[in-house]
Parts: sequence; C-alpha cells; structure tokens
Amino acid sequence: MLTLNRLSHPLRGEISVPGDKSISHRSIMFSALANGSSEITGFLEGADCLATIDCFQKLGVQIDHSYRPVNGVPTITVHGKGLHGLTAPNAPLYTGNSGTTTRLIAGVLAAQPFSCDLTGDTSIETRPMKRIIKPLTAMGGDITSVMENDCCPLHINGQKLHGIVYHDPVASAQVKSCILLAGLYASGDTVVYEPALSRNHTEIMLRAYGADIHNSIDVSGGAAAILHPGTPLQGLRINVPGDISSAAYFIAAALMVPDSEVLIHNVGINKTRAGILCVLKQMGADITVLNEDNSFEPRADLLVRYSHLHGGANGKFEIVGKTIPTLIDELPVIAVLAATADCETIIRDAAELKVKESNRITAICENLRKMGCDIEPTDDGMVIHGGNPLHGAEIDTHLDHRIAMSFAVASMVAEGSTRIKDEKCVDISYPGFFRDLQNLTKLN
Ligand code: S3P
Repeated sequence: MLTLNRLSHPLRGEISVPGDKSISHRSIMFSALANGSSEITGFLEGADCLATIDCFQKLGVQIDHSYRPVNGVPTITVHGKGLHGLTAPNAPLYTGNSGTTTRLIAGVLAAQPFSCDLTGDTSIETRPMKRIIKPLTAMGGDITSVMENDCCPLHINGQKLHGIVYHDPVASAQVKSCILLAGLYASGDTVVYEPALSRNHTEIMLRAYGADIHNSIDVSGGAAAILHPGTPLQGLRINVPGDISSAAYFIAAALMVPDSEVLIHNVGINKTRAGILCVLKQMGADITVLNEDNSFEPRADLLVRYSHLHGGANGKFEIVGKTIPTLIDELPVIAVLAATADCETIIRDAAELKVKESNRITAICENLRKMGCDIEPTDDGMVIHGGNPLHGAEIDTHLDHRIAMSFAVASMVAEGSTRIKDEKCVDISYPGFFRDLQNLTKLN
C-alpha cells in the first residue's frame, strides 16, 4: 500500500515518459517476422512488452534484450526469422497481463505449421477472446478455448489460412491487428472494416517493414485496413516515441495542481491516439504542441499549464462516438480530471472499458465516489458531476495499472492522504512511474 498526500505546491519541470506500449509490442513482433536484424530504441521495458519478448524468444527468435548500447543509446536487437522461421515452443506461451500480446500473437500462431497453447494471468483468463477466435476461424484457423468459455487458455492448431473481409462490430486495434497478422500468411487479401479508426500503428509499422497495407476512411467515418499479402518484411531501425497514455498522467497533474507548468518531451501524437489532447483543449486546457516531427510515428513535446477546465454554455461536456477509440486508455485519468472540472462530463459509447485490465467503469466510479465525487456509472460510460472537492481514500486498483496511476494523480488535489493498494501494478506499463512523479514534485 502506498500513501500519497495532497500536493501543496505547483508541479514545475521537464519529463520524458517511457516508450509507447503499443509500438513497443509491435516493434518486437514485426522485427521477429522480418528478414534480417532490427534495432529498437526507446523500447518500453514494462512487464507487458517483456512478455512479448519472452513469447517470441520461445518461438525461436534471438532477441538481444540486454539493452545493449549502440552509439551510447540503449538498443534491443531482434534477429528476425522471416515470416516462416518460427519454431514450436516446448511449453505454453505465457502473456502475463497483456491483452495486446495475447490477441496479436494469436494471429501469428493461427498460421504456423505447429500447434501451441497460449495463456496469461487471471485477468487475461477473463478477457474476451471470441472477438479473435471468430475471425481467425473464418480464415480457416483452428482455435479452441480450453475451458470452453471463449477466454484463455487457447489451444491454437496452426493451419493454412485464406484472406477475409471482416466487419468488426467494435473499433479494436487488437482485433484488427490479430486479423492483419494472420492475413500476412493468408492466400488472398484481408480487409478489416471497423466502425471508427482504432489506433493504426500496425498499418503504419507493417508498411515501414515493407508490407503492402493501407487504411481507407469512408464518408460515414468508418474505416478499413486493407492488406495484400506476399511481400516479405525487412528488418528496420525503429525509435519508439514516448507513450501518450503515460504522458496523460502528467498532463492531468499539471492541469489540476494550481500554478503548474510541465514540459513533456517526445510524446507520440498519432491522431488515432491523441484524442485526449483535443478533448482537453475543448475543455479549456492550456496545452502547447512543440517541435512536431511527423516522420514515421508522429511525436512532439507538450507544454502543459494549470487550467480551469469547464464544459460548454450548458455546463456539460460530452465524450462520445468516434472520439472514444482515440482516448480509450486515457478515460480513467480523464474521469479524474472531470471530477475536478467545472461541469458535468458525460462519457458514452465506451462499453469496452468493462473488458480492459479491470472493469474500468466500476473501478473509476467506485474509487472516485470514495473520494467524494458525484459520479454515476452507465452501461457504456459514466456521468461525472465535477466540482466537489476530493478527499483522500483507500483506492482499490483492481490490479489495473491505469487505475493506480490515475488515482495517484487524484491524490495530488485530494484533502488528506490517499492510499493506493497494489501500487506495484504500474510496472505493467510504467515501471518508474512513482519515482518520476516524485522527481517532478521535488523540482520546485
Ligand atoms: C491496444 C489496443 C487497445 C488498447 C490497449 C492497446 C493495442 O485495446 O486499449 O491498451 O496496442 O492494440 P483494444 O484493441 O481492445 O481496444
């Protein structure tokens, strides 16, 4: 249990957050499937991404993971085996807490000339896998949920696959990426339609590795990813930008604590991820985007100053529809900000929150309520009546890293002290989080 106290002075200083989790996972996976070596810098050494490294090592890929410095910069070298070079693991693959590892690797395994078992921790064993079993089966895959509950453990018996046109009912980058990875091995094209464009790192990165893949957006805002297989992947040098999902905690802290000013360096601002910036600016946040670099995955420095957040003329602010996939992982910390904002915030179309590392609708509402916030859960989101002063409470993280970090931020403006249970779960995506938070508060 970690005890945190209200901050009595502004946050001032500069920080760089660790590498983007989604891009780090993909950099290992795509490098493993490429011909030749890849060098990765800025990689996130969180538990989730280490699980991806471990799985590909068990599939016979040599990954120099000692973080060897190349020209003084810590670098991971992946010795790619090409699309057809993986070998059968001699034990089940264990993905820990990582939904991204589980769902993406399943797409690769579905097409291998061997079978294997895939499982993770107790959270992974409750997360829905039917969403990948269904399209992979339609491609000719043979995937069984061992407990017959459409969850992990999965037994994947590799098959020859054929391309499909798949209409995904939810905008999920994990499902889309799983299908596209299987599509690399399939005969014929694979097309994935989604109701709104989810994070498109797979499309951007696979193209950089040499795949024939692109996105198209239709007039109604629906999106498609189109893959034409047959081109081998080639090793690359990749520099992973900082994770906007991790930057979000410092953005929120700087906006909430009076007189704060924080400069966050090298944050990934891919449009499919940067919804938090648009939404907060509409609520009156003072965020300046500096030194934008649009090569490969876009990135920039963010200068954030304390701001009075508010709603529209009717005192309300809505976060709904196609915006949701662009900030889905930031909703816990956005909810914390909304609790202190001078408006009623309505979050809708976010039922996916229920099937993340924890049921985040429950976890956010239960913990914010304990801190004195007037908040109601709904079936696909929540309504937050902002403006009540927050007070310290005992926070149940549900072992969910994003709940732990969001409520550490809430503690900075809460009267008295806040106790965060199982705070170590932040290691999933941000092992140095509490150290970085403390350093930033000490810099005054
Ligand atoms: C991710 C996609 C999102 C996100 C997760 C990472 C990815 O999940 O919530 O943290 O790297 O593809 P869904 O695909 O389930 O929306």
